[in-house]
Amino acid sequence: MEALVNPHVLDVSPYKPGRPVEEIQREYGLKRVVKLASNENMLPIPAHVRRAIRLELAQLQYYPDSDNYALRRRIAEYNGVGMENVIVGAGSVELIQMLIRTFLKPGQTVLTSEKTFSLYKSATIEHAGRAAFVEAPMDAGLRFDLEAIAARIDDAAKIVFLTNPNNPTGTLLPGAAVRSFIARVPADRIVVLDNAYQEYVDDPRDYVTGLDEIRSRRNVVVLRTFSKVYGLAGLRVGYAMAHPDTIALLGRVKPPFNVTRVGQAAALASLENDRFKKRTVRLNRRNKARLLAQLQGLGLRVIPSQTNFLLFFPGVDVAELNQRLLQQGVIIRPMAGFGIPDAMRVSVGLEEENDFFIAKLGPILGEMRR
Ligand SMILES: Cc1ncc(COP(=O)(O)O)c(C=O)c1O
Repeated sequence: MEALVNPHVLDVSPYKPGRPVEEIQREYGLKRVVKLASNENMLPIPAHVRRAIRLELAQLQYYPDSDNYALRRRIAEYNGVGMENVIVGAGSVELIQMLIRTFLKPGQTVLTSEKTFSLYKSATIEHAGRAAFVEAPMDAGLRFDLEAIAARIDDAAKIVFLTNPNNPTGTLLPGAAVRSFIARVPADRIVVLDNAYQEYVDDPRDYVTGLDEIRSRRNVVVLRTFSKVYGLAGLRVGYAMAHPDTIALLGRVKPPFNVTRVGQAAALASLENDRFKKRTVRLNRRNKARLLAQLQGLGLRVIPSQTNFLLFFPGVDVAELNQRLLQQGVIIRPMAGFGIPDAMRVSVGLEEENDFFIAKLGPILGEMRR
């Protein structure tokens, strides 16, 4: 079999998502399982979005609009850019793959930080092999070290991914640092600002959305998603914004009909108003502060986060802790796959979900520390 396959594929570690609730219920015979593993929005989507989805069900025998006209028009209006600045994907994951397929030539590399979203690495290796992926170290505060990244921009470095705020550390880059970094990157390299968690940032005044940058630079691409604050993770819709020439190139590799009718209709309805988004952000802020205090109350080191999740260091064997939490119906994420084997990441859930997690974690830690 191995002789048949593209050798790069054998170098890819398959993405390990948080385990499904039903699987853990089956495996351990549990009724209640709480999943805080994938940084989803735990609130059910608003009624007007559900209505838009229901209406679309009558049209499912037809292909979706491959050009995403209505959705792109609304995204453009919402962000104050032109429709030609926008392309839609089946989640921002697909846009990451499209960026690599479009811009990475043989011999060139993708550059990012260690301890970040693992898809940049797997998408690169699958396309171009292990040697095409370069990681810079983080700074001591588990932030992207922009100096370390800049120092690695050699002739081969072609695409730089900045995840801001970062998954899984939850850390944010100051606006001035991002702006001066972008200004230093040569114009023939692509800088991708992955803003999946943008809406959760504490102080939007010091945040680089990338919208100014895409007006003046062809080499900057902004990624956004409907999976987090809009609560549509199950429908797979994300988008990229960039200079029209850059978007047109991405359009060449865009799979036809890649975003479903239901996904497009739901995303469009989500942008009708900001009420759900504001409610989500408010609730997340409150629940995150409480969860942070609870984790610190258990004596744990927790990284301050500008997102809807917290990274913490349990100070005990992570694999064993994870196993014990699963047995008790709690799914969170061990971080070995993200390059932080002594850490775990927990998504901020509803208050009762967070409390369920803490109620299980406390006694388990007590036993493991003995
Ligand atoms: C930093 C980052 N980028 C992109 C994504 C992918 O999001 P989606 O494909 O659901 O839009 C995630 C998902 O967790 C993420 O954390």
